[in-house]
Amino acid sequence: MSFNFKKPSKLFSWFYSLFCPIYGKSYYKELLKSLKLSGSESILDFGSGAGVLAKKIIKELSNGGKLTCLDLSEAFLNRVRRKLRKYSNADLIWGDIRELSIPPNSFDRITISWVIHHLPKEELQDILQSIVNTLKPDGKIYVIEFLSPPHGIPEAELFKLFDGTGLSESVVFRKKMTGIFEFKKT
Ligand SMILES: C[S@@+](CC[C@H](N)C(=O)[O-])C[C@H]1O[C@@H](n2cnc3c(N)ncnc32)[C@H](O)[C@@H]1O
Repeated sequence: MSFNFKKPSKLFSWFYSLFCPIYGKSYYKELLKSLKLSGSESILDFGSGAGVLAKKIIKELSNGGKLTCLDLSEAFLNRVRRKLRKYSNADLIWGDIRELSIPPNSFDRITISWVIHHLPKEELQDILQSIVNTLKPDGKIYVIEFLSPPHGIPEAELFKLFDGTGLSESVVFRKKMTGIFEFKKT
């Protein structure tokens, strides 16, 4: 099975729709707890995939909050569009964050779940910096990630990448091969 998000095969899309909610269940639960949402926040879900996390977040934004879902894959973003069709506070953006003119200081929280290991290594620092630029001064970024290469990134490497953006980390949750981390401006 290939990990082609741009032109996903039916089998790949089907696998993702089943795998994400099942494998991700306990991690999404921990993440939602640590986001500590009042419902009025502005949130970016970077790399929304099939929209499994996005749907859980938007249900929490019942107090004027807004969710922006960004993905490089039009095919997957269309899946998010279908999933969130009844919500008027969802904004969908297709493209490379480095080429989009998202204003700085836009988001209270940013979630990046199971995306980092899909980004090209040589572009990773650059992409992360563009994400960080959109965070409000007191905002926080939450990362869920596999920690074992090749389909994952070791914790120390992840922390080093975020050090390069000026954010400091804390561990929220770790189980099996996956961790949840919080990053904020120091
Ligand atoms: C495993 S899926 C994400 C699952 C989703 N975050 C969730 O938890 O429901 C990975 C996604 O990252 C997206 N992606 C990969 N590179 C990207 C980039 N440079 N910018 C935005 N999205 C990207 C892929 O298109 C794919 O939809």
